Amino acid sequence: MANFSPSSFCSSSCITAFIILQLLWSCRLFANGCYTSIISFGDSLADTGNLKMLSAYKPDQESLHFFLPPYGESFFHVPTGRCSNGRLVIDFIAESIGLPLVAPFVGGNRNRLMEFRRGVNYAVVGATALDSSFHAARGVPNPLTNSSLRVQLGWFKQSWPSICAKVQDCDQLIRHSLILMGEIGGNDYNHALLAGKSIDEIETYVPLVVKAIISTVKELIKLGAKTILIPGNLPIGCSAAYLTLYHDSDKAEYDNSTGCLIWLNKLSEYHNQLLQKELYQLRELHRDANIIYGDYYNAAMQFFRYPDKYGFTNGALKACCGGGGPFNYNLSVHCGDPSSNLCAHPDTYVNWDGLHLTQAAYKIIYKSLFQGSYTVPQFNSICPTSMLRPIKELSSAI
Ligand SMILES: *[C@@H]1O[C@H](CO)[C@@H](O)[C@H](O)[C@H]1NC(C)=O
Ligand SMILES: *[C@@H]1O[C@H](CO)[C@@H](O)[C@H](O)[C@H]1NC(C)=O
Ligand SMILES: *[C@@H]1O[C@H](CO)[C@@H](O)[C@H](O)[C@H]1NC(C)=O
Repeated sequence: MANFSPSSFCSSSCITAFIILQLLWSCRLFANGCYTSIISFGDSLADTGNLKMLSAYKPDQESLHFFLPPYGESFFHVPTGRCSNGRLVIDFIAESIGLPLVAPFVGGNRNRLMEFRRGVNYAVVGATALDSSFHAARGVPNPLTNSSLRVQLGWFKQSWPSICAKVQDCDQLIRHSLILMGEIGGNDYNHALLAGKSIDEIETYVPLVVKAIISTVKELIKLGAKTILIPGNLPIGCSAAYLTLYHDSDKAEYDNSTGCLIWLNKLSEYHNQLLQKELYQLRELHRDANIIYGDYYNAAMQFFRYPDKYGFTNGALKACCGGGGPFNYNLSVHCGDPSSNLCAHPDTYVNWDGLHLTQAAYKIIYKSLFQGSYTVPQFNSICPTSMLRPIKELSSAI
C-alpha cells in the first residue's frame, strides 16, 4: 500500500514550489517590503476624488471648477477630482511604494474592497481639522464640505472591518499600512481668512486644530497603526491667492528673499511648531510607533527661495491657471472657468490655481520628504530609499 506521508508525497521540487508560493504571498502582502497599504486623511492636498464623488450626488449642483479641464491635464488627461494639473504627493508615494494610486473612499462599494485593501483615501477637498460646527458657530460655514477630520475618521472606523475582513488579521493590515494624516488644518485658517476673520482670532484656533489632529493620530494608534506621517502646513504666505487678496500690503510685510507675506507664513510656522511639539510628546508615549513629521513648509521653501534651481523659470508665485492679474489669480474667475487662462508649460510653475501647487512642485515635496531629509525622523531610517521604486516622468501618461 502506498504511503502518502507528506515527505514522500511532496517531492523536493514540490517543496521548493511551496516555499516560492509562500514567498510570493508575503511579497504580495508587503508590496515592496515597506508597506502593504496606504490609508489617507486630509484635504485638497490629498483628495484623489472624494469631493468629486460627493458633488456628483447633488445633480442640480454646477460642477465645481476643480472638476473641469484643465485640472488633471498633464498626467491623467481628464479631471479626476485632484486639485492640480497632475499627481499629488500621495500619488508619488503610492507609485514609489509599488502600490496602486490610492482610491477615493466615497462612492466605493463591495466590489472595491479588494482595491481598498491596498489603499483607501478619505481626504476631501475643503475639509477642516475642526468640525464644521466649530467654524459655522463663528460665522464661517464650510463652502465645500462638512467632511472634517472627525467625519473622515468615522468613515474609516465604519468601513475598516469590511475592508480588512478577508485578510486573516485586520491588525496585520493596519500594522503594515502607511497612514497619511494630511495635510489637514490648512483650511481651518484658509476659510476663516477668506471670510475676513482677523489674524488674532485665527491664531487662537491653532492649538485646537493641532489637538484635533493629535487626537486622531492617537485613535489610529489605538486601532493598531504603526507608521503615521503627519505633514505640517505649507507656507501659505507664498500662495497666489493671498498675495492677490493682500496685494496692497506694506513693502515691509514681504519677505524680500521670496516675495511671500511674512505674517501669513508665521501663521503656518506657528501651526507647525505646535504640531511638532505635540508629536514629540506622542513619540515618548508610543515608542513602538513611527510618528513622522512631514516638513512640507521647508520642503516648499526650497523652491520659493530658489525657483530657477528647480526649473521653475516663471518664478514661484504666479499661478499657471487662473483669472489674470499680477499673480494670475482672481477670486471671481477660477481656473477651469471659461474665461480663465492657462500657462503653456505647467512644469515651469510652482503654483497651479492660486491655492494649490503643480505636480512638478508636489514631486519635489515628495522627493524631499521620502528620499531626502524633510521628515522627522528621517523616512529612510524607517523605509530605506533602495526599497522605493522610481516614479514616472511628469508628462508620462498614467
Ligand atoms: C454642512 O452642514 C450644514 C448644517 O447641517 C448644512 O446646512 C450645509 O449645507 C452643509 N454644507 C455642505 C457643503 O455640505
Ligand atoms: C532684506 O531684508 C533683510 C532683513 O529684513 C535686510 O537686512 C536686507 O537689507 C533686505 N534686502 C533688501 C535687498 O531689501
Ligand atoms: C477679476 O475679474 C473680474 C471679472 O472679469 C474683473 O471685473 C475684476 O476687475 C478682476 N479683478 C482683478 C483684481 O483683476
